[in-house]
Amino acid sequence: MATVILVTGGTGLVGKAIEHIINTEPEGSRFGKKAGETWIFASSSEGDLRDPAQTRQLYEKYKPTHVIHLAALVGGLFKNMKYKLTFLRDNILINDNILHASYEHNVQKVVSCLSTCVFPDKVEYPLDETKIHVGPPHESNFGYAHAKRMVDVQNHAYKEEFGCNFTSAIPTNVFGPHDNYDLEDSHVIPGLVHKCYLAKKNNTPFVVSGTGKPLRQFIFSQDLAKLFIWQLREYDDVEPVILSVGEDEEVSIKEVADAIVKAVGFQGEYSFDTTRGDGQFRKPASNKKLLGLIGGFEFTPFEQALDISVKWFLDNYATARTGLHKA
Ligand SMILES: NC(=O)c1ccc[n+]([C@@H]2O[C@H](COP(=O)([O-])OP(=O)(O)OC[C@H]3O[C@@H](n4cnc5c(N)ncnc54)[C@H](OP(=O)(O)O)[C@@H]3O)[C@@H](O)[C@H]2O)c1
Repeated sequence: MATVILVTGGTGLVGKAIEHIINTEPEGSRFGKKAGETWIFASSSEGDLRDPAQTRQLYEKYKPTHVIHLAALVGGLFKNMKYKLTFLRDNILINDNILHASYEHNVQKVVSCLSTCVFPDKVEYPLDETKIHVGPPHESNFGYAHAKRMVDVQNHAYKEEFGCNFTSAIPTNVFGPHDNYDLEDSHVIPGLVHKCYLAKKNNTPFVVSGTGKPLRQFIFSQDLAKLFIWQLREYDDVEPVILSVGEDEEVSIKEVADAIVKAVGFQGEYSFDTTRGDGQFRKPASNKKLLGLIGGFEFTPFEQALDISVKWFLDNYATARTGLHKA
């Protein structure tokens, strides 16, 4: 039987990385395309997934047998704080439409995407898959977090009532080509890459907010892509899996900024604005479950992945999502 894998959010940071891996890994290999597989990478222009009728149309058009569900309203801290209801409602609608259409079309497997930022604010570290619902999320992103947490609840309900094979992945901070580089609403790496690029171009200082001391786990989008493909093909349980580098691979914001300065080739004044807040010092997540299941995985070294990402940004500045080309 033909296998049709629909990737929702297929034009975003993670979707583009899955497309890259499927197109570049050797055919038939663990992460490469298998014989008889068709991969569809859908953007919002193919259907607004907040709308049930457009979602149904997408399913009728492609008749997916498998779904990697990435589409979401995502944003940085500012946007999350300002548009809490929109983040809650849009993501609830998107997720409900996708899961229900998948049920109605007898999709054999759905892997939906959560995020480590949906975990409780007050929680014992490291984060692991059992702690998603043990307390309220951080107040700043409660709309996004509650909508995403609901996917795990829905997955369990679809399994119990209808026997569906729906599960979820929980990535840590992702970076890579095709990221969102909007200066006002991006995650830390793309935001700093864009800032450093402008500092070089305009001959101005490169100023990083905060002390540079906080530690974070970053996963390269192309590594994450392989892990999604693994989870789709080889993991058949409803419980989520954290997709992350190990806790011993945390990097400080200063290490991130140093690597960006090097990759961009910036030689001007570079400093930390310690009057700005740092956020939490660390929020480590355990990848023990992942490593136990996958049986070994080689993550791309951070600096190498960052070089690839910065090179992509420099080569694609004119068309990248910088927030500067809005119509
Ligand atoms: N980036 C991170 O650090 C991170 C970390 C943890 C988890 N995640 C999760 O990873 C997933 C992918 O994130 P990303 O960083 O790749 O996001 P992204 O680059 O912003 O891409 C979002 C994708 O979702 C699509 N989309 C948004 N609203 C839609 C709608 N109403 N209908 C149909 N499609 C819609 C977009 O389509 P268009 O291109 O047409 O707009 C785009 O393809 C999300 O579920 C996110 O929560 C991301």
